[in-house]
Amino acid sequence: MCGIIAGVSSTPIAPYLLEGLERLEYRGYDSVGIAVAGGSHLVMRLRSTKRVKDLGRRVRDLDVPRLGTIGIGHTRWATHGEVSTRNAHPHNDCTGRLAIVHNGVIENAAELRELLVGLGHGFGSDVDSEVVAHLVEEARAGSSLLDAVREATDALVGSWALAVFDGTTDELVVASHQSPLVVAHSVHGHFAASDIGAIAPWVEDFQVLEDGDVVEINASPRWHRREGLPPEPELRARPPMHVQPSLVVHADYMSKEIEEQPEVAARIMTELGPRVADGELWRSLGLPDFARVTFLGCGTSLNAGRALGQLLTRNSGVPHQCIVASEVATASVEDKTLVMALSQSGETADVLRALSSNLLGSAPVLAVTNVGHSALGRRADAVVECSAGPEIGVAATKTYMAQLLTGTCIILSALVARGTLDPVRAAQLVGDLQRAPDLLAQAIGASRRAVPAIAEATSEAPGFLFLGRGAGWRFAEEGALKLTELTYRWAVSYPAGELKHGPLALVERGTPVVVVDDQARRLAVDISEVAARGGRVVRIGGPGSTIPALGNREATVLGIPWCGPFESVVAMQVLARELALTLGCDVDKPRNLAKSVTVH
Ligand code: F6R
Repeated sequence: MCGIIAGVSSTPIAPYLLEGLERLEYRGYDSVGIAVAGGSHLVMRLRSTKRVKDLGRRVRDLDVPRLGTIGIGHTRWATHGEVSTRNAHPHNDCTGRLAIVHNGVIENAAELRELLVGLGHGFGSDVDSEVVAHLVEEARAGSSLLDAVREATDALVGSWALAVFDGTTDELVVASHQSPLVVAHSVHGHFAASDIGAIAPWVEDFQVLEDGDVVEINASPRWHRREGLPPEPELRARPPMHVQPSLVVHADYMSKEIEEQPEVAARIMTELGPRVADGELWRSLGLPDFARVTFLGCGTSLNAGRALGQLLTRNSGVPHQCIVASEVATASVEDKTLVMALSQSGETADVLRALSSNLLGSAPVLAVTNVGHSALGRRADAVVECSAGPEIGVAATKTYMAQLLTGTCIILSALVARGTLDPVRAAQLVGDLQRAPDLLAQAIGASRRAVPAIAEATSEAPGFLFLGRGAGWRFAEEGALKLTELTYRWAVSYPAGELKHGPLALVERGTPVVVVDDQARRLAVDISEVAARGGRVVRIGGPGSTIPALGNREATVLGIPWCGPFESVVAMQVLARELALTLGCDVDKPRNLAKSVTVH
C-alpha cells in the first residue's frame, strides 16, 4: 500500500528515491511518483501508473546530475480517486513551488477542498491528499515551512504521514499522525520514510515520529512535538536487512512461500520449542497473568487468531474472543484480558487504530508479527516475531502458518507458567509440534499431486463452499479467503453443521464444496448431504480422500484436538493458486490488494 520516502543528500536525490521506492514495492501500489528540486529551483515532478522501474527509466532519460539533492517519492494504492497519473503523488500547490506526498486518509478533505476552492485554489487531482498542498500554501506567507505544515495539519482530521518540500527554499518537512513515519541521518544524507526498510541500506539508526510530530529534515533537524513529550524520540538501531529473495526454481513467490512452510515450522520449533514446557517463553515477555484472551487482527491474521482462540478455549477452558480490528467499536474487554494482536506486516492501519482507541482499555498487548520493528511491534507491550522470513506474495501463506505455530507455542508456555498445564504434558505436546515440518511437507506433496486436476475440473464454477467442524472450520475459513482473493470467485465458509440452515441452498450439480475432513463427528453426514444434491465434494483428509493432505495422526499426543488439522490449509493454498493460474490471474499480486494495508 502507500509508501513514502523523502531525503536530502549532497548528491542527486533521485537515485535514492527510486531505490527506496523499489524497496516499498512489495507492499502493493498502483501508481508511483517523485518530485525533486530541479536545476533552476523548480519542483520537477514525474509520475506513472506503471512500475518504479518505468519511472527510473524516465529519470535516467533526464540529466540526473542536474537534478536536485532534495526530493520526495511515493507509491500510491488508490483510496480517493481512480488510478491515474493525475491522482498519483506527489501533488503540488497552485504555485508549483510546493510538493507533498501523503499516506493515510484526510477525513475532512471534502470540506477543506470546498473552503480552498472558495479561496481561489485550483485542484489538479481528485485525491484527498491534495488539500494538504493548498493548506500549506495558504499558511506559507511569511512562515517557515515547518510552521506552515504545523498550521496546515491543525486543520486536518484523519491520519497522515506527510512529506512536504519547497523547491525554491530547499526546505523539507515531514509530519505524522496515526500513520507511521521514521527519520534517519547518516553520511549519505537525511531521510524520512514510512517504513525503515526503504532507507535501511544508508542508515544505522532511526527515530520514530509520534502522533502530532512535525520535523524539518536537514543537517540540524528541528523537531516540533506535542506538549509533555521529550524534545526528540530515542534512537533505535536499524533492523537487520532482508535481501529480496529470488525465485530460483519457482514460477512465482506464492509457490516458493508455500514450499517454505516446513522450513519455517522447523525454525520456529527450534527457536521457541525449548522454552515452552518450562514456561520460560511466556515469562520472558514480562506480561501480567490473564484470565481471558482477545485475539485482534484482519484477514488471514484474524483467521490465525480464530484458530488459536479455538485451540486455547477447547484445550484449557480459558475464554477468548476474536475482534475484527475494523470493528473494535463493538468490542468490550473485561479485566485481566490479554490482547494478542496478530499482523504479518505489523503496519495494518485497522489494527493500529484499534490499539490506539480507548476501547481495549489498559489490557496488555502482545504482538505476534513477522516484523518486530514495525509500528505494531513498537506499540505492543511485548513482541514475539514469527520468523517466517520475507513474504513477497500478497496472499499470506507461510506467515499464517508461522502465526499459528508461534501463537501455539506462546499459549502452551503461558498455560504452563500460570500452572494450568502440566509441564510433562506440555513437553509431549511440543514433541508433537516438532512433527509440523513433516506434516506440512507431506501435505505439500499430496496437494501438488492432487490439486491440478481439481482446479481444471472446477475452473468454470462461479463459487465455492468451504466446510469444516471444530478446528477444521477455522482452517476452512482461511481456505475460502485464499480462494477469493486469488481467483476473484466467491467462496464462503461455514461450520458444516450450518449447511442445512441456509447454505445448502447454494449447492447444485457440480458446485464445488471443499471439506476439511478431520473425521470430526457428524462430518460424514454433512458430506453426504452435499453429495446427495450433486455437489462436487473435495475432501481434504487422510489416505483415500480427494486431497490426501492430512498425514496419519493417530500416533501423536497432539492428535486432532490441540492444533487441529492445520496442514489442511496448505492444500487450500495450493488449490487457490492452481485455480488462479488456470484462470490466468496474477497469484503474487491479486487485483486491488496490497501486502501492507496502511489505510483504514
Ligand atoms: C490475505 C492477506 C490479508 C492480510 C490482512 C492483514 O492473504 O494477506 O487478508 O492478512 O490484510 O494483514 P496483516 O497480517 O499484515 O495485518
